[in-house]
Amino acid sequence: MVIMIKVDNVTKTYGKGENLFTALYKVSLEIPTASTNAIVGKSGSGKSTLMHIMSGLDHPSSGEVIIDGKALGEFKPKQMDAFRAEEMSFIFQAFFIEANQTCYQNVMLPLEIARVPKRDRAKKVKAALTAVGLEDKIDSLANNLSGGQKQRLAIARAIVNKPKIIFADEPTGNLDSATGEMIIKLLFDLNKKLKCTLVVVTHDPEIAEHCKNKIEMKDGEIISTTGIKHKRLGK
Ligand SMILES: Nc1ncnc2c1ncn2[C@@H]1O[C@H](COP(=O)(O)OP(=O)(O)O)[C@@H](O)[C@H]1O
Ligand SMILES: [Mg+2]
Repeated sequence: MVIMIKVDNVTKTYGKGENLFTALYKVSLEIPTASTNAIVGKSGSGKSTLMHIMSGLDHPSSGEVIIDGKALGEFKPKQMDAFRAEEMSFIFQAFFIEANQTCYQNVMLPLEIARVPKRDRAKKVKAALTAVGLEDKIDSLANNLSGGQKQRLAIARAIVNKPKIIFADEPTGNLDSATGEMIIKLLFDLNKKLKCTLVVVTHDPEIAEHCKNKIEMKDGEIISTTGIKHKRLGK
């Protein structure tokens, strides 16, 4: 089993002195390559914090994250940006799409950031939009899409550069259930097709059931896992 993400004894605190708050406490975890993983737990349990730290969006107060064999802490900021652009992508509850740009422009953005040669871009954008069923919207403004289509656009943007890891934080949180189901099916199809590692923070038990591995958090700790091993050191 090859490990894609290794979280080693990660603690994250916010604030100082009396206001010191421990959002993650000595979390260790190994996520295998090409696996599907659900992070579950009550609001405030540290799910988003863990995901931000795993993806290098935020830094641990102590401990280490190793992705694809590389320790994130050793990267300089620019190297980190490049690594993230090449290997990972993100889908958030709030879509973060550019409303006044076309679908084409939205999906192109990660390729620009990753400095993919210009001549290769159009083909990749078309393939990603086709994968999410938005090929006929390529020149439409993102603003004119429905909620479900916007989320599909966010997914097209997330997959256009064939990431090794897709992080999704409550990807169906503000969608109706039928649209949510379609998005989930899409994410799992992509996991199969692209062999990308999927990490999903979710409240939805059905999504969690679909995932091979489950990681349950409470008060900044992993309290149980199914499918993968974790170490709990205890407070
Ligand atoms: N930037 C921050 N400053 C202070 N506290 C924070 C910050 N970000 C998150 N927290 C706190 O850390 C805890 C975990 O937050 P979060 O990871 O967002 O939980 P979840 O995603 O499980 O709802 C919460 O109590 C939250 O208030
Ligand atoms: Mg959250």
